[in-house]
Amino acid sequence: MGSIDTPKSEQNGSTTAITDAGAKSSAVDSMPPPLTKQSNGTMAETEISKKRKGGVLPLEVGTRVMCRWRDGKYHPVKVIERRKLSPSAFSDYEYYVHYTEFNRRLDEWVKLEQLELDSVETVVDEKVEDKVTGLKMTRHQKRKIDETHVEGHEELDAASLREHEEFTKVKNIATIELGRYEIETWYFSPFPPEYNDCSKLYFCEFCLNFMKRKEQLQRHMKKCDLKHPPGDEIYRSGTLSMFEVDGKKNKVYGQNLCYLAKLFLDHKTLYYDVDLFLFYILCECDDRGCHMVGYFSKEKHSEESYNLACILTLPPYQRKGYGKFLIAFSYELSKKEGKVGTPERPLSDLGQLSYRGYWIRVLLDILKKHKGNISIKELSDMTAIKAEDILGTLQGLDLIQYRKGQHVICADPKVLDRHLKAAGRGGLEVDVSKLIWTPYREQG
Ligand code: ACO
Ligand code: ZN
Repeated sequence: MGSIDTPKSEQNGSTTAITDAGAKSSAVDSMPPPLTKQSNGTMAETEISKKRKGGVLPLEVGTRVMCRWRDGKYHPVKVIERRKLSPSAFSDYEYYVHYTEFNRRLDEWVKLEQLELDSVETVVDEKVEDKVTGLKMTRHQKRKIDETHVEGHEELDAASLREHEEFTKVKNIATIELGRYEIETWYFSPFPPEYNDCSKLYFCEFCLNFMKRKEQLQRHMKKCDLKHPPGDEIYRSGTLSMFEVDGKKNKVYGQNLCYLAKLFLDHKTLYYDVDLFLFYILCECDDRGCHMVGYFSKEKHSEESYNLACILTLPPYQRKGYGKFLIAFSYELSKKEGKVGTPERPLSDLGQLSYRGYWIRVLLDILKKHKGNISIKELSDMTAIKAEDILGTLQGLDLIQYRKGQHVICADPKVLDRHLKAAGRGGLEVDVSKLIWTPYREQG
């Protein structure tokens, strides 16, 4: 499958492996060309440009303009925010921009010289735009937001949703250190106010406590006795382990995980009441401990038959098949519960791609092997994939016909092979014989 909205190097380029106390090895894979060094912002330069542009500067929030990206090419951006480089009255600004062709995770602060001022276009009406984007929420999300309300706060209306968008539009934490990795973040996350002034946070990779300074982390690591996530190890195969963490029993861990995950999840508007969730943490284990690769969360009770709320593979581990492993795992749990399941909506761009790839592979593998007719219901029973998702997937591949008021699967083996090939390689396999788990039951 082709690259999504960004070059492949985006993901790997944002991660640096840390070899020992703070020493960084060179970035993994091909790092995009470095951005041009910061301008010294000389007065002369600024004045000339000001004159030339006849009062265009500083650019207003909402301005659309072309901006040089890390690939060295110019791309259209919208100015989201601006800030002065120094308190001086004549100081230049830098701009927080959104590349309109790309996902919000690539939003960043840029210097004036990256902007092509001759291309300055319009100033858009922010309020009109926000009305559209601010309301993209599922009923379920809305309910969750309502649940997280602090007592005395009125219902969240469209205006406060817009305010939330406004508040989260600029990334707060730029990088985190987690285990061996330094990772550039993708989105805003609502860390407590005392972390407002930090652009980098240091996480303990085992208990996920986060700190402002490296020395604090080093002191913490001497005391912290965890070498794996809290909770029960429910799966082990080779070096891969899965841990189940009950948000009610491990509240702080659950909250820390939500803060961390939000840095890479855009559309999940708030962190949840963790009591209601179970967290499944995937780890790569070695002699130093079990290192978190990714996770998914699951509501203890879901009215909407959601079997997964949020899924994340940490950037250094992405595109290696762990995402599909986590998805497959979530369906194995549903099978053990004797239920069908579906991921909570909306799905992100990467979530959509991963699910689609997983559904295609699982369903087409069965259709290929199966002799004779098979119904959507039967497919659903075999895979725990919800019937609507099966129908949507097969319709997307043009494998469904509507005959005599019924959906019929029409699967020519050659066509199946073609689709399977296009769907790319499968993820890491879940070995069900290594899963030791019973569905959640309320205790006491
Ligand atoms: N560009 C293009 N395709 C991609 C990319 C990318 N950057 N990343 C993943 N994919 C697609 C590919 O089709 C890939 O299959 P392939 O390797 O055969 O080409 C497929 O997704 C899955 O790849 P995996 O390696 O199995 O998945 P990964 O470990 O990268 O995890 C995940 C996928 C969890 C979605 C990850 O991208 C992530 O954590 N993203 C940030 C958080 C997020 O968006 N989560 C989903 C939100 S929706 C929800 O939570 C219900
Ligand atoms: Zn710790």
